[in-house]
Amino acid sequence: MLERDLVIPCTVVGLLQLREQMPTILVTGGSGFIGSHTCISLLSCGYDVIIFDNHSNSKVFPSLEVASFLSINNPDRIKIIHGDICKPDDIEHVFLASEKIDAVIHFAGLKSIPESFKNPSKYWSTNVAGTINILNCMAKYSCENIIFSSSATIYGGGQGKQISESDLINPTSPYGWTKFISEKIIHDQHKAAKESANSCDETSKTINAIILRYFNPVGAIKNGIIGESPLLSATNLFPTIMKVINGEDSQLNIFGNDWPTIDGTGVRDYIHVMDLAEGHVAAINYLLATPNCFIELNLGTGVGYSVLQVINTFEQIVGHVIPHTFHARRDGDVASCVADSSLARKILKWKAKRELSEMCFDSWNYWSKYLGSNL
Ligand SMILES: NC(=O)c1ccc[n+]([C@@H]2O[C@H](COP(=O)([O-])OP(=O)(O)OC[C@H]3O[C@@H](n4cnc5c(N)ncnc54)[C@H](O)[C@@H]3O)[C@@H](O)[C@H]2O)c1
Repeated sequence: MLERDLVIPCTVVGLLQLREQMPTILVTGGSGFIGSHTCISLLSCGYDVIIFDNHSNSKVFPSLEVASFLSINNPDRIKIIHGDICKPDDIEHVFLASEKIDAVIHFAGLKSIPESFKNPSKYWSTNVAGTINILNCMAKYSCENIIFSSSATIYGGGQGKQISESDLINPTSPYGWTKFISEKIIHDQHKAAKESANSCDETSKTINAIILRYFNPVGAIKNGIIGESPLLSATNLFPTIMKVINGEDSQLNIFGNDWPTIDGTGVRDYIHVMDLAEGHVAAINYLLATPNCFIELNLGTGVGYSVLQVINTFEQIVGHVIPHTFHARRDGDVASCVADSSLARKILKWKAKRELSEMCFDSWNYWSKYLGSNL
């Protein structure tokens, strides 16, 4: 029986039945947290998937268990290629080895804000130069459609208000800057192609793009066969809470209890990773049906929770106290960051549906299974 997370919306099935051949999506970073959940949603909705990942922060996806769960009996529907976005030859190999790539979802990259302060050039070369390598290869092999994983960190906080796409861009970390500059490069490429098409100059290749600015993705697929299990040390809230729940760490460090928020701790817009995955399917459907597209969209829930509110929700689920201590604010953090996602709702007909309690439960469910069976 299909779990709720895998029920295919009929609008999507209807749309795909009109196509002669199922579109193939190249998913860079497809073995990672958001990428692997998105691949499950794409496969469930009929898309074929090529995963390209260097596995620096993930195990190979899909595991045998995931493949059998999805009943993928046609092995051609999913391919996994090990490679690095920093190496143009690796990317070219994927395009040469594939008959047709209809679109790229570009997740691959580095994502730790604290690490980006310590080693900015590593972030610029992976996130920005890696994105340029992908765009160059797409142009060479006439692949016109890209969805780019951006981040709410480019805004630098909303001072208690919901943040919309037209709000001030003000990255507070090298990581945030790499995301914003990558967006800008994609936009410039799109504009150049449009202008040269208008002047009948064929030098610039078309690029259609949707930039998705995620707020705080958390949770896991309902049955817990995949979830967030970074190989590198994680600095975001949910994985660090899990370490305390599982006894790996004795207490949770909370950075800042003097922010101008409900209880002094930072407020974030947490979004269930399956809602995010479904947002990507909606974005791919839209992109493939819309020529000349360039849009920036926030993906969040519009509701913010403080660190203490998240801890409290986990405490109710696990039935015991989660010890924590307060520390000074960290570089790059902001008081509050909550999305106005009304544009995504209007354009993609997408809306996040899952509540904070479900996000916490599904994370915990995955971690209990993951630690239990060492998947
Ligand atoms: N998780 C978040 O909180 C969050 C928020 C906003 C934006 N994002 C962005 O979304 C994307 C995916 O995030 P995630 O949480 O799934 O991260 P993740 O680390 O779980 O996934 C990223 C994947 O990219 C791979 N990768 C890293 N460097 C690579 C390289 N040079 N070549 C090929 N593969 C490489 C990693 O092995 C990993 O599988 C990232 O670009 C991230 O910046 C994430």
